[in-house]
Amino acid sequence: MKLVVLISGRGSNLNAILDAALPVEIAAVISNRPTADGLTLARRRGIATHALDHTQYPNRADFDAALMALIDNYQPDGVVLAGYMRILTDAFVEHYSGRLINIHPSLLPSFPGIHTHARALAEGVRVHGCTVHFVTPQLDHGPIIVQAAVPVRADDTPDSLAARVLAAEHQVLPQAIRWWAAGRLVVQNDGRVNLRDADGSEQALLIYG
Ligand code: GRF
Repeated sequence: MKLVVLISGRGSNLNAILDAALPVEIAAVISNRPTADGLTLARRRGIATHALDHTQYPNRADFDAALMALIDNYQPDGVVLAGYMRILTDAFVEHYSGRLINIHPSLLPSFPGIHTHARALAEGVRVHGCTVHFVTPQLDHGPIIVQAAVPVRADDTPDSLAARVLAAEHQVLPQAIRWWAAGRLVVQNDGRVNLRDADGSEQALLIYG
């Protein structure tokens, strides 16, 4: 399975994917921010990289069109949003419909959008976490593949909670890709994802300390 990975920052989720030695080819890593540390990380690991600076485009549609053209040069089977912080146009999402996944740092549908850890603490939730899902035009929405539940501690700050959630992300994103590459993710008509041939040991939910 050939993948293109989109990033915006440090690329810790990209690193987790690469460390997982998955049966996939990461054909390229593309960042909307030229200074993203994840580009350096990818280059060091011999992966083709591109920086497509979104500030150089007059609007979101033009940027996404250029991004699609760049991605399609690689003809990937799938596109992974790994810490990619740009809102995608419907045209982009529809172009990669069924072939586009995202990792989001909350238990969707709770806390779509940004600052999820501070919002979770402000709401006093007892459990937080992260979600890998297929991307649909609605922001941070779409068929859920796998989630990790992370208990909230009384002394948590947004940073301490974010650190534990990030560690959980690094478990569930490679897991989702492993299942995806094995052709085991089936999006049912009701929009829910079925993990084909799952045995009792494989959970689409991970409880993370
Ligand atoms: C992660 O929390 C991810 O869920 C969010 O961006 C953060 C940074 O990701 N979308 P990374 O370290 O750049 O992979």
